[in-house]
Parts: sequence; structure tokens; C-alpha cells
Amino acid sequence: MSIINSFPEPKINCPFEDVYAPSDDTYLIIDYFSECINETYFDGLDIKNIKNILDMGTGSGIIALFMREVKKKIVKFSPQIFASDILENAIKCAKLNESSNNLEKNITFIHSDLFLKFPANLKSSFNVIIFNPPYLPSLKHNKNERVKKGIDNSWNGGEKGFEIFIEFISQVNSFLDSNQKFYIYYISSSAVNINKLIDQVENYGFKNTVLKKKHIFFEDIILNRLEKY
Ligand SMILES: C[S@@+](CC[C@H](N)C(=O)[O-])C[C@H]1O[C@@H](n2cnc3c(N)ncnc32)[C@H](O)[C@@H]1O
Repeated sequence: MSIINSFPEPKINCPFEDVYAPSDDTYLIIDYFSECINETYFDGLDIKNIKNILDMGTGSGIIALFMREVKKKIVKFSPQIFASDILENAIKCAKLNESSNNLEKNITFIHSDLFLKFPANLKSSFNVIIFNPPYLPSLKHNKNERVKKGIDNSWNGGEKGFEIFIEFISQVNSFLDSNQKFYIYYISSSAVNINKLIDQVENYGFKNTVLKKKHIFFEDIILNRLEKY
């Protein structure tokens, strides 16, 4: 899989067995951004107005590092980039990849279950949030077993497959900069009840747009964008 525009592809090492190595879903996101970011616009948003970007569930760090590469190439694009993950090893891995790509330390990493550990000064600050969440239904769901192990965090979205994402949606509002237009990008899968997922997202006041789809093995993976009505 390759990045199709002229932004350099970060080189990613993933030496931790519990950290998600970039895959088709990751590249669906990166390829979309490669197509829709230019000197003036970030997917139609004025590029100068993007102050804070968050890569939620950063894993190896690839999406945050890609944004860092874009920032190096486009002068008017100067956001602060944040990357967070529930897994400590993901934060370690992403920091290693930041160093090995010879990028000066510029990304702010936050080890957190969704927004739990985010400092209050990040409230109302994000113009763009990207979340490639765990989006598959758990095979065997034990209601008493809330704590997931290692790599499960990368795929297990809960019994229906979208509980983690809906939890994210329930927390995200206060971190969005609602003084101007913002976008949330996320991946979903046809392996879940998509209509139910979108209904729930819309109940939180978001409009869902499907941007790209890719068929892989038993499912379609779907890149979506949310904005406020
Ligand atoms: C499918 S992987 C995506 C990794 C990377 N962003 C990519 O696209 O290659 C999902 C990521 O979300 C993280 N994650 C799962 N639950 C989370 C939560 N509650 N809070 C923060 N991160 C979470 C996982 O640890 C994992 O790194």
C-alpha cells in the first residue's frame, strides 16, 4: 500500500506485539489526506485555521507522523499535533518512530483512555480529530470482563463493535473547537450494524459523510467524516 501524493510516508517500526502495525484501514485514512490536503485547504477547511489536530488511538504513531510530514511541507499548516493511546507501548512505539523519522520532537503524546487524562486546557481546542478505533464486534463478550488485553484494544470495539467509538463520541464535544468548522474522521466496518452506528452518532448531533470504502476479505472498511449540522 502506498501514499499517492507527494507527502513523504513515515517509516514505521512496530516492535511491540500489542501495538497495531499500520494496515489497510490506516492507509485508507492516509491516502484520503494525501488527496485532499493542499497549500490552502485541508479537505475544504482553511488550512491556516487548523490550530490543533488529534490522532486518537495513535498505535504506531503513523497518522500523527504523517501530519508532521505535511506540516514540514506546507508553510501555512502549523497546527500543534497531539497523539494519544490507551496502551503505554503504543506511546513508546510512536515516540520511537518520531525519533527514527528524524523529526524533531514536536508531537505531544498523551497516554489516556479516550479523553480521561487530557488536560483541561485542551477543551474546545481541536479542529481535526482522527480516530481509527477498534471497530469489530467482540467474538465472545463477557460483561464482567471490561479490561481488555494488549492487541485486543486494536480491534475489539465491544459487543456490537462500536461501543468504544460511541463512548468517544459521548466525550468528544467538549474538546472540539466549536467556534469554527471542525471535522472528525473515523473508520467503521460493514461487520457491524452500520445504520445503528450512524443513528447513534447522529443522535449526538453529528452529520456523517462516507468518504471512501475498501473491500477486504469479509468486510468493507469505511472512512467517515463527522461535522455538526
Ligand atoms: C485499529 S488501531 C489504529 C492504530 C493507528 N491509529 C493506525 O491507524 O494504524 C486502534 C488503536 O486505538 C487504541 N485504543 C483502543 N481503545 C482506546 C481507548 N479507549 N483510548 C485510546 N486509545 C484506544 C488501540 O490501542 C490502538 O492503538
